[in-house]
Order: sequence, then C-alpha cells, then structure tokens
Amino acid sequence: MRTKLFLAFIFIILLALLSNIVFERMIIRDFNDFIRGTEEDHIYWVMASVEGSYINGRWDRQLLGEALHWGLMLGFDAYVEDHWGNTVLSSSEVLSTISHNMRERMNSLLKLPSGAGEFVWYPLYAEGEEIGRLYIRPFERRGTVPLKEEIFRKRGKEFLVISFLIAGGGALILSILFTIFLSNPIRRLTKSAEKIAEGNFSVQTPKVHKNLKDEIDRLTESFNYMTEALRREDSLRRHLTSNIAHELRTPLTIIKGNLEAIEDGIISDPGAVIENIRSEIQRIIMLVEGIEDITNAEASFFRKGEIEEVNLKEFIESVAGGMRKIAEEKGLYLRTGGPSMNIKTYPEKLHIIVKNLLTNACKFTGSGGISINWGENGRGFYISVEDTGKGIAEDNISRIFNRFFKEEDSGGQGLGLAIVKELAEVMGGSVEVESVPGRGARFKVIF
Ligand SMILES: Nc1ncnc2c1ncn2[C@@H]1O[C@H](COP(=O)(O)OP(=O)(O)OP(=O)(O)O)[C@@H](O)[C@H]1O
Ligand SMILES: [Mg+2]
Repeated sequence: MRTKLFLAFIFIILLALLSNIVFERMIIRDFNDFIRGTEEDHIYWVMASVEGSYINGRWDRQLLGEALHWGLMLGFDAYVEDHWGNTVLSSSEVLSTISHNMRERMNSLLKLPSGAGEFVWYPLYAEGEEIGRLYIRPFERRGTVPLKEEIFRKRGKEFLVISFLIAGGGALILSILFTIFLSNPIRRLTKSAEKIAEGNFSVQTPKVHKNLKDEIDRLTESFNYMTEALRREDSLRRHLTSNIAHELRTPLTIIKGNLEAIEDGIISDPGAVIENIRSEIQRIIMLVEGIEDITNAEASFFRKGEIEEVNLKEFIESVAGGMRKIAEEKGLYLRTGGPSMNIKTYPEKLHIIVKNLLTNACKFTGSGGISINWGENGRGFYISVEDTGKGIAEDNISRIFNRFFKEEDSGGQGLGLAIVKELAEVMGGSVEVESVPGRGARFKVIF
C-alpha cells in the first residue's frame, strides 16, 4: 500500500512538472510572438513611409531621409535600392547628417553605426509597380529593453521551478499524511489480524480516535469488537468444556453406580435408588439448561438488538411466570410488586438479566422466597430481586461478578452474574448488591 501511494505521488509530481514545462513554453512563445509582431509592425510603417517618398516617378531624397531617420529611431539599420539595384540612401548616410547630440542619444539606446545579423529585404511598390527594395535589420539594443525581456524570460523559468517545488512539496506532505492516517492504521490492523488468525487473541487492539471518526476508525472499532468477541468465545469455550466434563462426571458416576447395584440385586429399597437417579438426571438437565442460557446470553451480548417500548410490570410478571413452577417445587414464594409503567429498553437483554437474577435467587434459597420489585428513579427505572437465601459472604461480594467465579455448591458455570453486569453496562446501567450472610441477598439493576 505504501509503495502504491508513493508511486501515485511521484506520478502526480511528474504530471505537475510536465504541465509546468508546457505552460512555461507557451508563455515564452507568446512573449516572443509579441516582440516579433511589434517589430513587423514597425517595419511595415518604415516601408510605408519609404514608399511615400517616391513621388512622380522619382525618389524624394528629403522624404526618404526622413523615412530612414524614423526607421533609425525605431531601431532599424536600413538602406533602399532602386529598380536597377543601385543604393538610393542608407541609414549610415542619414546618421552622418544628424546632429552629434542626437547621435549620442541614439547611441545610448542602440549599438550604432550598423545593425546585427543579415539584412532582410522587402519589395517596394508605387502605383502597382515595383520601384525597388528595402533592406532592413535591427540594431542591437542597449539599455533597459533587452534587460526587461531577459528578466521576463528568467521569471518564466523561476515560475516553473517555484510552482514545481510547491507541487512537489505538497505531494510529499500529502504522502506523509496519507501514510500516517491511512497506511499506518491499516498496517497495524493487518498485524493484529494476522496474530488473531494464528490464534493469539490477547493482541493489543488498535486505538480509535474518539472525536474524528473516519472509515478507518469505524473499521478499527468493528475489528476491536470482533477481537473482543473472539476472545470471549475462546475463553468461554475453554472453561465450559473443562467444567461441563467435570460437572457431568459426578451425576453420571452416581447414576452408573446405582444402576449397577440394581443389576447386582443388592438393593433393598429400589424406590430410594430410583429417586436418587431421578435427582441426578434433574441435575444434568439443569446443567444443560444453564449452558443454554449462557450461550443465549453470550449471543445477546454481541447482538445489538432493537430498543422497544415495553410495559415493565407485564414484562417482569411474564419472566417471573416462567420461574414460578421451579420456585414452588422448592416450596418458595415468588412475589412481584411495582407500578405499571412503560420503559424503552432492549427486551432480549433485559430478559436475560432478570432471568439470571431469579435463577440465582431460586438456586441459593432454601426456605422463604423471592420478591421482585421495580419502579422509577430520577432519570430511569430499577429492578430489584431479593431473596431469603444463604446470602453472600462479605469476602465474595467483590468477586461474584467475575467470570467463572462460583461457589462449590452452585452447579453452574459462574457466568450468570458476569453476564448480568456486562449486559447492564452495555445498556448504560449498573448493578448493586447487598447481602447479610445467612439471611439473604438483594440485587438491584439500575438504568
Ligand atoms: N442470590 C444469591 N444468593 C447467594 N449467593 C449468590 C446469589 N447469586 C449469586 N450468588 C453467588 O455468586 C456466584 C456467582 O453467581 P453466577 O450467577 O455468576 O454463577 P452461578 O449461578 O454459580 O453459575 P451460572 O450462573 O453460570 O449457572 C454463585 O456461585 C453464588 O455463590
Ligand atoms: Mg447464576
């Protein structure tokens, strides 16, 4: 990419150089045309006045002298030949007749007494007949006129160099800026992507500019989000596989042992054994359901979802309804209380949050029950889930929201509360917890 950018800028510089050269040539050519055009005009006027000095078939030397004198003042060295090729009058003859003073003055402008280069001749006519020829060539100039012409040409060249430097410098600065703002971030992204492709998810993700977000920043942002997703998926997969294997082994071993005992006929109370097997199978079912919940919650974390208006009372009562059977089977009450109010939220995410809090409350409560309350608070709403269960030891309060933190008897993966907290934060909220060990716990999500 850098090489391509560099070549593109070199191309632009060359293009600027080419256009400058063409432009300079055109200006100098126009300037030369202008000078030549003026000179031709002057020659034309000298010719016309020379022709005007041919009167009644003969040259009027007085008028011809004045014509050549005029030619001298316009900067021309000239002489006139008649029809037979004899010189009638020349600038040098006219020069010898003019005053010393005037000659000195002319000499300060022109290099007298004779012009430079070859003579060019023009035919002279009077009343349709050729009467002779005018030979003419310019004097070399002294003084400021040639200097000005020279300066003009020099300026043309300087213009070429300066504009080329400006274009070249501009292209150089642009190429540096492009490298900094375009090529470098893409290079960093490419490096990170390569590392991730090798399975290294702990790469440092590139920074995003907070204020001026361009396409590159948006690409980086999506890339970072994707990396985070992969990182989560990877750690989840590692933990889940080892934990599930571990969690499944105990109930399966118990079931197997019980079945073998039945086969061997050493069972005195088959009813108790079947109950044992049933409760272990129930444990497995809960484990599988827990894994399903966690997988859904993880998926929801990465799905942005749509904000919808829902009635909070109906919403919570429907989530609680799904849990009521489980609570009642454990002999627990499940109470709901709060106003009927409409809120704007991500229903899928909120459902996962409430369901996780309720599942925990059911799981960690032996007697008594669970109360869910909700209401408005200043700018938003809150939901609180309170139970009369075993509570949380003070030392653990700060750890329960960590991924994979769980207590021995939980039978879960230690992910529920981590997901609750992450989802609440994604939705712009927060979670608070209070607990008196042995008497219960209260979780409150505030939006
Ligand atoms: N209502 C509660 N009462 C007492 N302890 C709780 C309560 N909720 C959570 N905890 C403690 O916090 C730990 C972490 O809870 P979390 O929901 O993250 O994981 P889990 O319920 O053990 O497993 P998972 O939710 O992944 O199935 C639990 O193991 C438990 O020790
Ligand atoms: Mg849980």
